[in-house]
Amino acid sequence: MPNAGCLRYRKIPVTSGLEIGAELNSELTTSKAVIIGASSGIGAALAVELSRRGYALGLAARRIEMMERELVPKLSSPSCCTFMDVMDIEASITALHVLIRQLGGIDLLVINAGISGSSPVMERESTENLIKINVLGFAGMLHEGYRIFQRQGHGHIVGISSIASLLPHPNGSAYNASKAFVSNYLDSIRLRIRRRGENISVTDVLPGYVLTPMTEENKRMFWVADAEKAARQISDDIIKRRAVSYVTRRWRLIAWLLSLMPRGILNRIL
Ligand SMILES: NC(=O)c1ccc[n+]([C@@H]2O[C@H](COP(=O)([O-])OP(=O)(O)OC[C@H]3O[C@@H](n4cnc5c(N)ncnc54)[C@H](OP(=O)(O)O)[C@@H]3O)[C@@H](O)[C@H]2O)c1
Repeated sequence: MPNAGCLRYRKIPVTSGLEIGAELNSELTTSKAVIIGASSGIGAALAVELSRRGYALGLAARRIEMMERELVPKLSSPSCCTFMDVMDIEASITALHVLIRQLGGIDLLVINAGISGSSPVMERESTENLIKINVLGFAGMLHEGYRIFQRQGHGHIVGISSIASLLPHPNGSAYNASKAFVSNYLDSIRLRIRRRGENISVTDVLPGYVLTPMTEENKRMFWVADAEKAARQISDDIIKRRAVSYVTRRWRLIAWLLSLMPRGILNRIL
């Protein structure tokens, strides 16, 4: 099957997207996934892995040239990609719908877009920026994905949180708090879905340390996985529709120990 490649524009002209997508659309019978934040690191590795497993892919991020140049040639299944900045939620929702039209549907939505922020200096501007992407951007895409899956009666939402969601951090307070939001929100949506008897799965992915552009400067990492290994494990858990995916697996034990530890003791250790 041919690869449609990236849409080469920054603003999302919906009609152009549909024209390019019409060709791809008619040929797809496989599962269809959209990855938000696919240009590097875990998102890009996940795109390669899901492509290998036969998913047709809609890819979104700000660095569209990078997706086109470095990612699309590695994919063995049909794909299309578009510019998306989740800080602009309305435009991102439009872009998401363009991708879905191009793919001819959606079965899986992976919300991976995120930035880190660890600094001894707490600056309001960088904190707000992080919250706009990791919290508001995440919530905006989650809402839209949920609405789409409710309407079509099935779907799978995957959010990339972090082991950091389980811990406070003196220099990464906004990042850790943003990931706590992601995990708690996914848990709450999963509960809501169960109560309402909806046919939608929700997977909360908690990576430990993964070697990506986000962490390449971080000298104090342990149990580090490369992005390809992380992508394989996340894909396995997606296929199994796991509620929670620990990457790598040994972090499950740490998560369990942390859940048992009284907050006073935890704060003294950290
Ligand atoms: N690496 C780790 O050890 C680790 C551990 C736990 C959790 N995580 C989480 O895993 C996810 C992926 O991180 P990574 O390590 O793979 O880092 P990365 O290589 O920096 O990837 C981040 C991805 O998010 C996208 N993104 C960032 N801001 C965006 C925005 N405003 N709009 C749209 N896309 C945006 C980036 O694309 P553009 O810049 O092209 O827009 C990129 O594709 C993040 O949510 C991160 O918090 C990572």
